[in-house]
Parts: sequence; C-alpha cells; structure tokens
Amino acid sequence: MRIFFILLILTSAFLHAKKETAYEKGRSLYFANGCANCHGTNGEGSSYYPKLANKKQKFLIKKLQNFKNGIANTQKQEIMFTFAKALTQEDIKNITTYLTNYKVEKSDKYDVAEDLLGVDY
Ligand code: HEC
Repeated sequence: MRIFFILLILTSAFLHAKKETAYEKGRSLYFANGCANCHGTNGEGSSYYPKLANKKQKFLIKKLQNFKNGIANTQKQEIMFTFAKALTQEDIKNITTYLTNYKVEKSDKYDVAEDLLGVDY
C-alpha cells in the first residue's frame, strides 16, 4: 500500500513539473534585463523607443546580433550595445521568441490606476 502512495506522489510531482517554454523564459529575460523600461511592458515602444512586439524574429535576432557586435546604423542605436552584450545566444533566441509571438495577457498587464489608486475592478 505504501509503495502505491509513493508512486502516486512521484507521478503527480512529475506531471506538475512543467517545463518553462522559450516564450516564458523570454518574458522573464525581457523584464530582468530592463528591456521593458524602454520598449514598454507590452513591447509596444513609444515615440522614441521602437516597438518590438510581433516583429519578425529574423529581424529582431539580426538587430540584437549587430548590437552585440557593436554595429549600429545610427548613434541613437548605440545605447543598445550594453543591453545586447549582456545577452547570450540562448537569451537572444528566447527573448525574440517571446517578442515575435507576443500576445496580450490580461493578468500580467501593469495597471497604473490599480497600482497607484488601489482601484478595484
Ligand atoms: C535605455 C533604453 C533601452 C533599453 C533598456 C533597451 N533598449 Fe532596445 N533600443 C533602444 C533604442 C534607443 C533603440 C534604437 C532606436 C532606433 O533605431 O531609432 C533600440 C533598438 C532595439 C531593437 C531594434 C528594433 C528596431 O525596430 O530597429 C531591438 C530588437 C531592441 N532594441 C531590443 C532590446 C532588448 C531585447 C532589450 C533588453 C535586453 C532592449 N532593447 C533594451 C533603447 C533601449
């Protein structure tokens, strides 16, 4: 009987140990590396910082590789050197997978009104 319970616990632990997807890893990296501070929490960009969400992965990878190698087309882009250099090839793959496939998720959307005013919806 005891072995049955041990097996049950092991099986459920195994089933619940969900592997993090590239998308999820990319999202964590996007926030941990400060990308969101300039490019927006939804990768939406602003008038000064380019939008990244849903751009082609090949384009994003190329840009990040260039920045990582110290290649920029304009002086404005040089700000990206430090941020791109901090990324490994694996990070670039995960971050761009996240950005290219970006979908709005209501639950983790930062709501200023709710945070500052404690507004309950
Ligand atoms: C301090 C602000 C800042 C931070 C932080 C930052 N970026 Fe940027 N990023 C920029 C600027 C400025 C540009 C160049 C805009 C231009 O070309 O006019 C840029 C350009 C880019 C581009 C090229 C987009 C395009 O359409 O040309 C990519 C891709 C990019 N950043 C990804 C990232 C990632 C990934 C991170 C986090 C690791 C990050 N950025 C962090 C400011 C920032």
